[in-house]
Amino acid sequence: MTQKPATPERGEGEKTDPENPFLSTREQAEGQTVVGQQRNRLWWETKPMTYADWEAEERLPRSSEELTAIENQIIVQSPFMRNRLDWSQFDGLDVLDIGCGSGALATRIAKQGASVTAVDLTQTAVDLTHENAKVQKLDVDVIRCDVEKLPIESDKFDFVFSWGVLHHTETFENALKEVNRVLKPSGRSLIMVYYRNSIVYYLHGFYWLIFKGYMFRGYTINGVQDLYTDGYFHRYFSAKEMGACIEAAGLKPTRFSVTQYEKKILPGIPKWLDTYLKKKFGMCLVAEFEKPVTS
Ligand SMILES: C[S@@+](CC[C@H](N)C(=O)[O-])C[C@H]1O[C@@H](n2cnc3c(N)ncnc32)[C@H](O)[C@@H]1O
Repeated sequence: MTQKPATPERGEGEKTDPENPFLSTREQAEGQTVVGQQRNRLWWETKPMTYADWEAEERLPRSSEELTAIENQIIVQSPFMRNRLDWSQFDGLDVLDIGCGSGALATRIAKQGASVTAVDLTQTAVDLTHENAKVQKLDVDVIRCDVEKLPIESDKFDFVFSWGVLHHTETFENALKEVNRVLKPSGRSLIMVYYRNSIVYYLHGFYWLIFKGYMFRGYTINGVQDLYTDGYFHRYFSAKEMGACIEAAGLKPTRFSVTQYEKKILPGIPKWLDTYLKKKFGMCLVAEFEKPVTS
């Protein structure tokens, strides 16, 4: 496992704001280990993905109703999931969900008639996904593991799905190699990662750099993401960079889409402009690709 400081862009020895939930969680993880992927795991154990506010101390659902309601919360918030994603395509497939979090999407896919395996780096996500599947009487196989070292045989899945995860792993390229390995020939995949050419990346970045003065403390546009982006690692991709990574892993890109959640991208703008900007400069890049038969 690579042992390196995870964010060289950050000011050396910088003392940071304990009120900032992203930084305090990062510093807590850094205080416990020097190993990048373990810091990553500790970050998500401290802030499990339940769609609660990042400031919330108590992030776990308090009841099975709250747990199963997360699925609707994600889909209502996501125009891509509501209007673009063809859920019926999963019917009858063997599907891997990487980075299952609360299990909301793994169970959604299982309800569609797929046989689902869900993996996550954290025990909290594994427990939540088990519980989510149990409450809904669904059969989901859940494994705690690192996507970069999947304990799964090759050529197993018809479809690999991953929403908002692979930009958070230490080495994205290793994760894609694993996706290739576990996909059947002609198997398909859909992954969502953060989009670099987005309003969020530059607007928030320059706000923190210039107005909050972090450029004078040694931060870069990339390093300043630590102040407001979830996860210990968070890599932002252009479509070109993503396409190159997919091809380098021996996979074939089929479609890229840019999207964002419901909240307006800029305050006060009309709906048509918001829709247009999100399609061009939204924060989520959805990459669809397949494994060539000869790969
Ligand atoms: C932003 S959450 C997304 C959860 C879920 N896909 C969703 O949309 O609700 C990211 C998840 O990825 C998991 N994760 C991060 N790095 C990982 C890795 N290397 N291997 C497996 N899971 C990982 C985290 O533990 C966390 O549960």
